[in-house]
Amino acid sequence: MTDNTQKDRVWIFDTTLRDGEQSPGATMTHDEKLEIAGLLDDMGVDIIEAGFPIASEGDFAAVSEIAKNAKNAVICGLARAQIGDIDRCWEAVRHARQPRIHTFIGTSPLHRAIPNLTKDEMAERIHQTVTHARNLCDNVQWSPMDATRTEFDYLCRVIEIAIKAGASTINIPDTVGYTAPGESAALIRRLIETVPGADSVIFATHCHNDLGMATANALAAVEGGARQIECTINGLGERAGNTALEEVVMALRVRGDIMPYYTNIDTKKIMHISRRVSTVSGFPVQFNKAIVGKNAFAHESGIHQDGMLKNAETFEIMRPEDVGIAGTSLPLGKHSGRAALRAKLKEMGVEVGDNQLKDIFVRFKELADRKKEVYDDDILALVSASGDADLHLQIVSLKVVCGTGGPAEAVLEMDVGGEEKMATASGDGPVDATFKAVRKLYPNEARLQLYQVNAVTEGTDAQATVSVRLEEDGIIATGQSANTDTVVASAMAYVAALNRLLVRRQKVGAGADAREISWKELS
Ligand code: KIV
Ligand code: ZN
Repeated sequence: MTDNTQKDRVWIFDTTLRDGEQSPGATMTHDEKLEIAGLLDDMGVDIIEAGFPIASEGDFAAVSEIAKNAKNAVICGLARAQIGDIDRCWEAVRHARQPRIHTFIGTSPLHRAIPNLTKDEMAERIHQTVTHARNLCDNVQWSPMDATRTEFDYLCRVIEIAIKAGASTINIPDTVGYTAPGESAALIRRLIETVPGADSVIFATHCHNDLGMATANALAAVEGGARQIECTINGLGERAGNTALEEVVMALRVRGDIMPYYTNIDTKKIMHISRRVSTVSGFPVQFNKAIVGKNAFAHESGIHQDGMLKNAETFEIMRPEDVGIAGTSLPLGKHSGRAALRAKLKEMGVEVGDNQLKDIFVRFKELADRKKEVYDDDILALVSASGDADLHLQIVSLKVVCGTGGPAEAVLEMDVGGEEKMATASGDGPVDATFKAVRKLYPNEARLQLYQVNAVTEGTDAQATVSVRLEEDGIIATGQSANTDTVVASAMAYVAALNRLLVRRQKVGAGADAREISWKELS
């Protein structure tokens, strides 16, 4: 590997909390957004796009608090090309040590038709809004949305206006995931060669994955001269998602020989944040997903295992440790103490406070009683399922009888707001019976949007992680749990989602978290 002094720096701009969170169903709570922002900051992300402050009171509050807490990262908020949006964005990001306003407008013929502006009228709007943003904040990013389908001459014209008005980063979005690698590189190269003043700003690339080319397009844009990559953890984002942070970062690291660029990312923190984003967004990571998929480092076939035992490089181009999987470390067991657990978490790049460690340790002991060896993945699942305190609903006990002879029957004891209640319900299988029993004790109209079960490790004593996503009156909440008993994990995930829905409903009632403007209306 060449050392970084011979390479160019590429800035990583993470938009998991804005473009990623915008994806239908991926809504995160305020606390979850703060936690993810903290993890992004710790892993060395250069710029965190924390949200869209005009979109809702909840977005505004999250961006403001992320801005106050940020340690090293630049904190950016998104704003349409409207004075009110830009002012609101500034109000939220101004608390950051390093704030940035990101303002955008759709410049392609199809997007120009929406506000019904002529080319000249749009150019004037860009001049006014970028100037306004620059008067508030000395770090302004501007994006011509749908740039890859905008006429080249017009694109050059509006970029020149934005640069003259004071934008220091020009982002070139491939909003609908339409471009291809050769074209992506050529577009950035040509813009840099053509637009007056282009050498005084940073060009960014923002790719969507509709044709599965987002990572390739982003890397090609870097070869064309872009020095900021916009991306999300796990490639989260609308439709097919955005460029995945873990993919571009690891591609630049592993193929530094042909791509002489480096980032500031501590790659050992990748796996943990990937799991957390998957958990809080309720979007599972596909098993064979590059870098962070469950199978990304698994070598199942006999030939592979033989090769791996002789020399890991036979089939591995990067080490699991490099992305935060403690490849060769020993599993913990029931005699392992709190110090061993803390050391294991540290080794995996997971930092938890004392209270959370206490909670994880209790769950770890329960698990170790049921399961001989507790693997790294089991522990990460425990971390993901920990942390909910002061819950309105808590399961006290659950017994389920099921088999071939008839419907399943669940007997559930649950603490509902401090009162212990019991119910029996029958259903089409153990999970259906259990969910019905929960609904008897806590009647609700929440619609089940997603119910998903994954085995964390191998073997019949593997933990199952269950994700449940519920929707009620437009409010979405997810719950996750892990247990060696799939039905228990399902019940706990369902109850966790109900608890979160309750908290969110209360906040919306108090006017705090209602999504006032949808992304569709905004763009
Ligand atoms: O995809 C897109 O064009 C965007 C812009 C707001 C940058 O997300
Ligand atoms: Zn986007």
